[in-house]
Amino acid sequence: MTDRQSPPLQKKTAAYTFSTSETARINAFFDARQLPDCLQKSIGNYIAKKTSKELSDPVMLDRLRNAIVAQKDDYWKPQRMRSLQYTKGYSVLGYLAYHFPVYFMQTEHILAMLAGDGLLKKKMTILDIGTGPGVVPLAIADFYSKLDDATADIYSVERSEEHIEAFLFLRNACVPKGGKVSIKTPKKEDIQRSIPTKISEQADLIIFSNVLNEIGKGSVDARADLVMRYAERLAPDGSILIIEPAEENTSTQLRVLSLALKKEGLTIHSPCSFIWGTNCTPDRCWSFTTRRCIQPTRMMEILAKCDQPFRYINIDIKYSYVVLRKDGKVRDTYRVPAGSRVLRISQIHHHVDKRINLIAAKMSENLGDAKNLMFRLCDGTADKLVFAVVPSFHVTPENEAIVSAPYGTILELESVHVRYNKEHDAYNVLVSRNTRVGIAGETEREE
Ligand SMILES: C[S@@+](CC[C@H](N)C(=O)[O-])C[C@H]1O[C@@H](n2cnc3c(N)ncnc32)[C@H](O)[C@@H]1O
Repeated sequence: MTDRQSPPLQKKTAAYTFSTSETARINAFFDARQLPDCLQKSIGNYIAKKTSKELSDPVMLDRLRNAIVAQKDDYWKPQRMRSLQYTKGYSVLGYLAYHFPVYFMQTEHILAMLAGDGLLKKKMTILDIGTGPGVVPLAIADFYSKLDDATADIYSVERSEEHIEAFLFLRNACVPKGGKVSIKTPKKEDIQRSIPTKISEQADLIIFSNVLNEIGKGSVDARADLVMRYAERLAPDGSILIIEPAEENTSTQLRVLSLALKKEGLTIHSPCSFIWGTNCTPDRCWSFTTRRCIQPTRMMEILAKCDQPFRYINIDIKYSYVVLRKDGKVRDTYRVPAGSRVLRISQIHHHVDKRINLIAAKMSENLGDAKNLMFRLCDGTADKLVFAVVPSFHVTPENEAIVSAPYGTILELESVHVRYNKEHDAYNVLVSRNTRVGIAGETEREE
């Protein structure tokens, strides 16, 4: 599933528009799927420096493997039961070896998405909250190195001294001083306390990457308060980007948080669309996107020379995200036209075993297998999960948009058959040869 080809970047109307050569450089980078060589070398050098060992040292490698396994075990626990903070000694080194490469590449995909949505400007001030070893700032610097004409100042906050030390080591090794991107030394601060004074007064982009799930012992209110406090530093036309791992609980909590922030006055720009103008019920909303997996790094390959190599290779890019705005801007302005002969998903229980028409966003990649494809659908009105189920031999030119449309696309589904799935308390709508699937609003837009 993660090996899906990223769609090639198109030149779109955007605040910062890519030239043909910029587009080519960015696409070449995504095609190679490799952590830049300088970062690969520097992560190795940093691990060697901190442990005073060669990278081939078996004792050091075993400690690193143990730290990675402990982090992974912790990752699957609910927040209140986690014991690790990834902030000291081998846990920071484990983070660099195992998590950093995927999150770095993921950030570059997200930057390309923001650019495609017109949310990157020629000159940006960016704030990265809970920066860890600088994954996001370093990815921004690398992304911008492929652009001709854009610059950025990046501020960040992090409480762990050891993460900051690693961050500065990597920055000094890989980001040219006086270049297009200026990465300021991170502020050492607890982000739950006041906002550090020496960071920018107004940011065009504020990023919380893989951090809010560590805040507030699971309390949505505590997380929402934190985001709203930082939102005071957001430029009127700026964006807040929250990213979380795709794991079910963390991902669902992000949707609950997103709705809480909407109720606080921010607008959800993407990926959710509220096509009936209602608020959604996010309690069971597990929705994430994927990108092509990355190539294992050299450090991963060294760690994988053991009995259970798969435990140390982390290459899948899967994440949940939300972009929020203050100015009401949304990715897709589509609303279901008055008088449309389509069913709100909230009414689907009245139509079990019948054929219906729907308009809904595709909110997952394929969750099934190659024979039976399955995609989550959402129109913002449902309180139960709804999936489009497509036997592969029923895919036709008339309905293949359900397969090829990117995550978040709003689709019109004409003539799907409703089934109730008791085991999962969910509804399946069966897409058959007789079903037509199109991009919502496309006919109106063409006229
Ligand atoms: C999982 S790491 C994410 C790092 C980076 N943003 C990324 O996406 O890879 C979470 C980071 O948030 C930091 N963090 C968690 N709670 C914090 C707090 N209350 N104040 C400052 N930093 C915090 C941790 O120290 C850690 O470096």
